[in-house]
Amino acid sequence: METLKCIETRRSVRKFSDKPIDKDLIETLAQAAQLAPTWKNSQTARFTALSDRKILNELCAALPAYNAAIVGSAPLLIAVSSVTGRSGFERDGTPTTILGEAYTYFDCGAATQTLCLAANDLGIGTVILGIFDHEVLRAVFKIPETENLVALVACGYKNDEPQMPPRRPLNDVLRFI
Ligand SMILES: Cc1cc2nc3c(=O)[nH]c(=O)nc-3n(C[C@H](O)[C@H](O)[C@H](O)COP(=O)(O)O)c2cc1C
Repeated sequence: METLKCIETRRSVRKFSDKPIDKDLIETLAQAAQLAPTWKNSQTARFTALSDRKILNELCAALPAYNAAIVGSAPLLIAVSSVTGRSGFERDGTPTTILGEAYTYFDCGAATQTLCLAANDLGIGTVILGIFDHEVLRAVFKIPETENLVALVACGYKNDEPQMPPRRPLNDVLRFI
């Protein structure tokens, strides 16, 4: 798919068919995410894939109802976590800029968007989920102490064709000096 078309047609998909996503496709998505730019090439984002229907159903209790409905139909949930204290920091642990650890999350966002675009190119729908019980989800996904759980990405073959939510006019977001 042409790059701009892939960017334009990516939507947050919230209803999925129950067709499973093959392991090699999950690897392709993680490999694409791994190609995103990162702070000093630090590559601190980590992806943990979960396709077990029973566990997916159980963890819905740790989500608000609107996100539980999404995960309830998703055949794959990917936890995006990040190694702490590296992206945005010097080797001795001091923050390099006034934004400090913000770059850790910046890198996770770039990697996650890259994963979502790769998924769109392969015909797989995704939605990023930011609202969930962090302690419960950390335990389910076995996130190590050295990482922060940042987001979840529900993935699956689409059972919905959502419209694009409106975007601000370009004049609101683009300035020329
Ligand atoms: C950091 C982040 C967190 C989000 N959390 C949720 C969420 O918890 N539940 C949900 O349904 N959508 C969530 N979304 C999806 C947004 O609602 C969606 O991207 C936005 O409405 C624009 O729609 P689009 O992705 O189709 O362009 C999240 C998106 C981002 C980037």
